[in-house]
Amino acid sequence: MAKIIDGKAISTQIKDECRERVTAMKEQGQHVALAVIQVGNDPASSVYVRNKKKACEYVGIESLSYELSEETTQEELLSLIEKLNQDQKVNGILVQLPLPKQIDEDTVIRAIDPRKDVDGFHPQSVGALCIGQPGFLSCTPAGIIELLKRSGVVIEGKECVVIGRSNIVGKPMAILLLRENGTVTVAHSRTGNLKEVCRRADILVVAVGKPKMITREYVKEGAVVIDVGIHRNAENKLCGDVDFADVEPVCSAITPVPGGVGPMTIAMLMHNCVESLKLQ
Ligand code: GUN
Repeated sequence: MAKIIDGKAISTQIKDECRERVTAMKEQGQHVALAVIQVGNDPASSVYVRNKKKACEYVGIESLSYELSEETTQEELLSLIEKLNQDQKVNGILVQLPLPKQIDEDTVIRAIDPRKDVDGFHPQSVGALCIGQPGFLSCTPAGIIELLKRSGVVIEGKECVVIGRSNIVGKPMAILLLRENGTVTVAHSRTGNLKEVCRRADILVVAVGKPKMITREYVKEGAVVIDVGIHRNAENKLCGDVDFADVEPVCSAITPVPGGVGPMTIAMLMHNCVESLKLQ
């Protein structure tokens, strides 16, 4: 029987730690505020944004909400970001992705002051991560490292395989595992012998974006399996990139969907918001 890694419980622990720090900061007259910008009303984004604001409330961080119309121009968004960059009362700036097609995501991410880049998406944050300097870490991969550590999974010396090479998850995940002294392989859609590569993994992080693609043929006996995917199936039930029922019996630990990686992303966003005061 695999250990089920409880992301919900671990994320609550982290939010509680953040709440304690925020309470102590408030006693010293410090205040933490996060600006959350959503452009348009993509339903999935609305759910994420609502959950981020709820987490802020729980932790004691003020959330400033900017809900812009689908027709917002890039110039309008950039001018809001500039205003928030200048505003000393704003510690973190988060622009929910994806953005409507008239707006270039890279330009928007670059416009955020790196000292307020609590998503960790700015090239300066990514560069700092690559060379081991202080900076904001992308929340999902940082959350996965916390999940592993707080579940007692040793990374050092282990074969780690990350499937997926996105800027938000795959690439920073690989670098963070490397930083923890794992031996890291990044696999992707063009990897020829994907099953074979995955079967080398002691720790397998799956971010492929395909429901239930990863079956037990991809998993070595006793591996730790981390599922980053989140999908809704035909019966409107949530599932991940991993076929949980098929894989669970062969691995030593696994994250469920929901209740695994998902809640950790928001917990690490709260952590980054609290940390932002140190950079400012
Ligand atoms: N869209 C999907 N995931 C994320 C995230 O972590 N941050 C932002 N800003 N947008 C997202």
